[in-house]
Amino acid sequence: MTRVHEQPRQQLVYGCMGLGGSWDPTPYDRHDVAVAEAAVGAALEIGIRTFDHADIYRSGKAESVFGEILHGDPGLRDTITVQTKCGIRVGESGLGVHYDLRPASIVERVRASVGRLQVDHVDTLLLHRPDPLARPEQVAEALTSLHAEGLVRSVGVSNMSAAQMAALQRHLDLPLVVNQLELSLAKRDWVESEVLVNGDQAIAHDFPAGTLEHCAQEGVSVQSWGALARGAYSGADLSAASPADRATAELVTALAGTYGTTAEAVVLGWLTKHPAAVSPVVGTTDPARIRACADALAVGDRLTQVDWYRLFATARGQDVP
Ligand SMILES: NC(=O)c1ccc[n+]([C@@H]2O[C@H](COP(=O)([O-])OP(=O)(O)OC[C@H]3O[C@@H](n4cnc5c(N)ncnc54)[C@H](OP(=O)(O)O)[C@@H]3O)[C@@H](O)[C@H]2O)c1
Repeated sequence: MTRVHEQPRQQLVYGCMGLGGSWDPTPYDRHDVAVAEAAVGAALEIGIRTFDHADIYRSGKAESVFGEILHGDPGLRDTITVQTKCGIRVGESGLGVHYDLRPASIVERVRASVGRLQVDHVDTLLLHRPDPLARPEQVAEALTSLHAEGLVRSVGVSNMSAAQMAALQRHLDLPLVVNQLELSLAKRDWVESEVLVNGDQAIAHDFPAGTLEHCAQEGVSVQSWGALARGAYSGADLSAASPADRATAELVTALAGTYGTTAEAVVLGWLTKHPAAVSPVVGTTDPARIRACADALAVGDRLTQVDWYRLFATARGQDVP
């Protein structure tokens, strides 16, 4: 029998992509710092202790404003987990976006992130997206040297399939501890691929099925980005929404009443009930919306099998096969 790893700790993660002002490389201002302080404060208030960054968020300014917050509150660093990502290049060499997991690029980007964040190490480094030109053995070497240098305590991936994770892990002594995937009631492919095996409802045959199962088996924490579906079921404007999205928003509101909680907690609870121990990444900068997520894990525990499937079927616009 294959040994099954211990399940990773399930938690809410705060996604810092909205911090730091505009996406332009123009400097941030005091207002941007105040917005970030309010968001981080609300996240800490509801018990969030992991903060997700990437080198590219707001052209580096998300990390920079967070670095200011850490600098201004010296005790904070030791109480939180700081995670960042590298591997996406934006607006360079005449290209819109391209990926770069060459070893020198990984190392250079991590050094820059550590500087902006004003930390001496990041707790977890994620490879942001798969780079088809990357050589797993070279990527593994770069990650191992960053770990040996003490700049990175643990490593993971994002937007990668089980096969891509396994190809990298083969060359890496450090365990991959996270895979961050887009996963929500609105973006259900990873779960759909679990139920559409051998079915006739549309899903691309080449969709990398089995990734959630791989993560569970290997003890890799699944973090879901876009978890709140940008508010589609918890207060965002529904004027251009599909009938399925409207019906889902109505059901979420009704279930929030039944469970005595918020719409946000129901939307996230649908994710946290999944046995892959999904950790939702909350990306809103609005302190009230952040606080409204507080109940998510408890709601995931209480959500009945039938209510989970009601949400799933309503969001899909049809029953499972
Ligand atoms: N690994 C990856 O490739 C990847 C990609 C994207 C994001 N991420 C990470 O995941 C985090 C979350 O992703 P996300 O921001 O795309 O997803 P999200 O949490 O589902 O959505 C938050 C975004 O939706 C907006 N929004 C509008 N109405 C809302 C409402 N009623 N409730 C909640 N949000 C509402 C928010 O604006 P306000 O701030 O004004 O509320 C914010 O811009 C990011 O911060 C980042 O850390 C990772």
